[in-house]
Amino acid sequence: MCPIAYVDNKEVEMLSRSSINNTETVCELIVETNAQNISIDNIKVPVLAEKISKIAFIGDTGCRINMLFQQECNSVDSWPLKKNLDSIAFHKPDLIIHVGDYHYRQTKCRNTKKCGDIYGYSKEAWYADWFEPAKDILTQSPFLFVRGNHESCNRAYEGWFRYLDSYPFSPQKCEDLISSWFLDAGPMKFFIFDSSSGEEIFTTQSTVDAFERQFDKLIQDKPTWFLTHKPLWRSPKKEFLTLKSHGNLTQIEAFGDKFPSNVTTIVSGHIHIAQILLMDNVPDQIIVGNGGALLHAQDQEPVYQNVEFNYPNSRNYLAHEVRNFFGFGFAILGLDDHKFTFYNQDNKEMYSANLTKDFKLKTN
Ligand SMILES: [Fe+2]
Repeated sequence: MCPIAYVDNKEVEMLSRSSINNTETVCELIVETNAQNISIDNIKVPVLAEKISKIAFIGDTGCRINMLFQQECNSVDSWPLKKNLDSIAFHKPDLIIHVGDYHYRQTKCRNTKKCGDIYGYSKEAWYADWFEPAKDILTQSPFLFVRGNHESCNRAYEGWFRYLDSYPFSPQKCEDLISSWFLDAGPMKFFIFDSSSGEEIFTTQSTVDAFERQFDKLIQDKPTWFLTHKPLWRSPKKEFLTLKSHGNLTQIEAFGDKFPSNVTTIVSGHIHIAQILLMDNVPDQIIVGNGGALLHAQDQEPVYQNVEFNYPNSRNYLAHEVRNFFGFGFAILGLDDHKFTFYNQDNKEMYSANLTKDFKLKTN
């Protein structure tokens, strides 16, 4: 049975979104974006402010347990997601954007003292990786959730569609690609694109076509940031690991050269580092993948100049600058002061960039 919600002092019945053998019922409530007061069982639900001034970004947050890696989920130093979320809460953002990859506890931990005994795609794993560490901040700020490849149809899709997806629940089959949508944040917009299914290198024409159809919903409009879990371009760990073709070929094939000029920036996660790629002739790429899961690519230089990206389809791109920021953290976008800032888990500023009036990173 779902509880009654109160929306601006009116009683509204919540709908049951899904239910598994009566062990857990997930309820949903769809409201107008101008709803101001929502409470459920005397808990106040955060809503979008009329004026959005500050937006936090975090990504790749769960505790990594698979055949190769066993992150120490019971240690806040090894898995500092809660610390990151507490630091974000300190900024009191009007909105928090999670760029995808919530669920990481894939296989049984070999040392339960260090990483516990919860794994698999059960609700317990979802609670351990996301809802438990996020329980305080979920009642403080509203969230926008982007789907990561960890939530793809051969991984933790059930939890994604039960808990986080923005569309009506459909129990029939897993959708590889959910429809793109916009969020208007006032002076700018976000376009939310589902790249959870797009292969990095071995792309198929049918996926490229499907990606292109979703991309084509993007219109020439106010300044827009493109949210996609997998970055189009990224700098991996070592140069010998084919630095020149790293990125996501499915998205590059589908729309790498098609961004309208109002899209100034792409924000992604997927590689577990904080990175900025200042691109020539295409939107800049920001990566905020350092939210808690075991870090990647920390052996890079802090700055590279003129990094070329050459792909087998003879598409070539140039990042005139790549900047790396090491350790765990998150980012804050200021819509009033036109600033983008990376913070570390202890809320120390790592780097701050000014933005143009079109929300493009200014190069100093
Ligand atoms: Fe990912």
